[in-house]
Amino acid sequence: MTDMHFRAAIPDDANEIADFMTRNFLAAYGHSSSPENIQKAVQDYYGVEAQRADLANAAIINCLCMIENKIAGLAQVKPPKPDSDPHHFELSRFYVDAAYHGKGIAPVLMQETLNIMRARDARSLWLSVWQGSQQAIRFYQKQGFVISGETIFMIGDEPMNDWLMTKEL
Ligand SMILES: CC(C)(COP(=O)(O)OP(=O)(O)OC[C@H]1O[C@@H](n2cnc3c(N)ncnc32)[C@H](O)[C@@H]1OP(=O)(O)O)[C@@H](O)C(=O)NCCC(=O)NCCS
Repeated sequence: MTDMHFRAAIPDDANEIADFMTRNFLAAYGHSSSPENIQKAVQDYYGVEAQRADLANAAIINCLCMIENKIAGLAQVKPPKPDSDPHHFELSRFYVDAAYHGKGIAPVLMQETLNIMRARDARSLWLSVWQGSQQAIRFYQKQGFVISGETIFMIGDEPMNDWLMTKEL
């Protein structure tokens, strides 16, 4: 993919990120709950206002994978909570456009993300992933993440069972 590059997201990307996240969340998880819950999740997490808020927060890292000047992948990392290990970061979002699944973009985006995190003195990453998402779980396992616990992720009013996964850097 000769025209692929990575860059940090900027506030002007809010609309395109909202479109990318909504489209790909619906493709991957649109079937996982009721239409009302899915619509609420899109509004809460992936609408333009939510993206603007994330992009205005300098502590949140948003790394974009661009192909032909369009967003092909997005990795988001959130800093540790004030009272927790300062080297343990959250991989809060990791999406590759459905058109590029299975084409080797995801491992390259992960490598880029890990390089950014190492430069910030991260020593480990954690994430939560829906227990029904075999594709994502399989991908994270191949990338060296291991299941370390369970948590709940709200899709609208429905509590979803997620795995917690962790990777040492
Ligand atoms: C998670 C994600 C980044 C992985 O990227 P990818 O390009 O699909 O990664 P891979 O091609 O390595 O596929 C991962 C594994 O899932 C398998 N897989 C593909 N489609 C699948 C499906 N429908 N069901 C189950 N497994 C599937 C692949 O065969 C591969 O396993 P293998 O290497 O043992 O064959 C990508 O699927 C994605 O963006 N998904 C939607 C967003 C998401 O779920 N993000 C994680 C949220 S926590």
